[in-house]
Amino acid sequence: MKAIQKRKLENIREEFPILHQKINGEDLVYLDNAASTQKPKAVINAIKNYYENDHSNVHRGVHSLSVRATEAYESSREKVSEFVNSPDKDQIIFTKGTTDSINLIAGSLTNLIEKNDEILITAMEHHSNIVPWQELCKRTGAILKVIPINDNGEILIDKYRDMVSNKTKLVSVVHLSNTLGTINPIEEIIDTAKSYNAITVIDGAQAAGHLLVDVQKLDCDFYLFSGHKIFGPTGIGVLYGKEDILNQIDPYQFGGEMILKVTFDETTYNDLPHKFEAGTPNIAGAVGIGASIDFINSLDRDLCHQYEMSLHDDALGKLEQIECIRIIGKSSIKSAIISFVVDGIHPHDIGTIINQKGIAVRTGHHCTMPLMDFYGIPGTVRASFSIYNNHAEVDKLIDAINLAIKMLK
Ligand code: ALA
Repeated sequence: MKAIQKRKLENIREEFPILHQKINGEDLVYLDNAASTQKPKAVINAIKNYYENDHSNVHRGVHSLSVRATEAYESSREKVSEFVNSPDKDQIIFTKGTTDSINLIAGSLTNLIEKNDEILITAMEHHSNIVPWQELCKRTGAILKVIPINDNGEILIDKYRDMVSNKTKLVSVVHLSNTLGTINPIEEIIDTAKSYNAITVIDGAQAAGHLLVDVQKLDCDFYLFSGHKIFGPTGIGVLYGKEDILNQIDPYQFGGEMILKVTFDETTYNDLPHKFEAGTPNIAGAVGIGASIDFINSLDRDLCHQYEMSLHDDALGKLEQIECIRIIGKSSIKSAIISFVVDGIHPHDIGTIINQKGIAVRTGHHCTMPLMDFYGIPGTVRASFSIYNNHAEVDKLIDAINLAIKMLK
């Protein structure tokens, strides 16, 4: 097969219309990519084109528009399947996002979890990988246990090995921490969990856009991510699941399309993936995520990672020179996310002042309140980089932070 020429990153910024605007009279510097990435024209146009030419409901009609919409929807499922190397496209369920994917699993697993079973998560999880398990524990009497981390923001893997046992029914871990940028050793975590027959769930919300994901190699039971963090639209997400477990569990939402036969006495469920997609799905969202995967596939992903890390290293080096700054999350294996606190200044105040310079960062607890408690802080300032950022923007960030410190100290 002929190798496809991957595009370089020069001029990639030109493909993102939103970046070409002023905020408070200054050029926008968008460094909130961990919250949501911006969208290239190819994704925007794919959604527009779908609504202008092909929209109808899917799997329901014999007319041409319905056939076209169904083809567009299912071809996106195929693209997602290849993107994570799923053995079959029917193991890809479209959801609203990572949160919805985790809720789907937690909601559907109720029958497989019993009183005193243990569910393991880590101390760096997003609320969406905490609360659904707390609720599952309330329903079933299972026990939620938290794998500790060290001050650098790394999982204590020996402690994890001690915690996992025959009582462990499920281990759910974030691949790449949204707050710390830590890339977790999920291969090892999955292997250990499997030796106790525990179900493995990987929250790939931050990872899917930055790291190569191969679900067959990982051998996890579930891998989840969102469209909007991989240059795609909001409101669409992915749940990959192993076929046997997807067949074992019941859906947690019921209605049209997820059925094979309905009578007033009884209903039989549809096959995968439709069993888990009740109601009219987010067809335009699926088209959009398909286009975002085409966009990512057109790029040299190693180069993207190296480039993002060069921005990270540049910013980190400069931030570390500012005396009153403390970096939160110092793992040696991380992605291009930097969280930090400034002594005596609330993160929101820093965020508000640097917004005056056109700079967008996220400030606050990043939906990881227990992690903030671990560090004894109310929140952080978080700068997160993407392929369309540049080194001049790193310098603008540093200048703006220095200015904010001068104003607020
Ligand atoms: N989980 C997203 C973030 O980290 C929203 O900002």
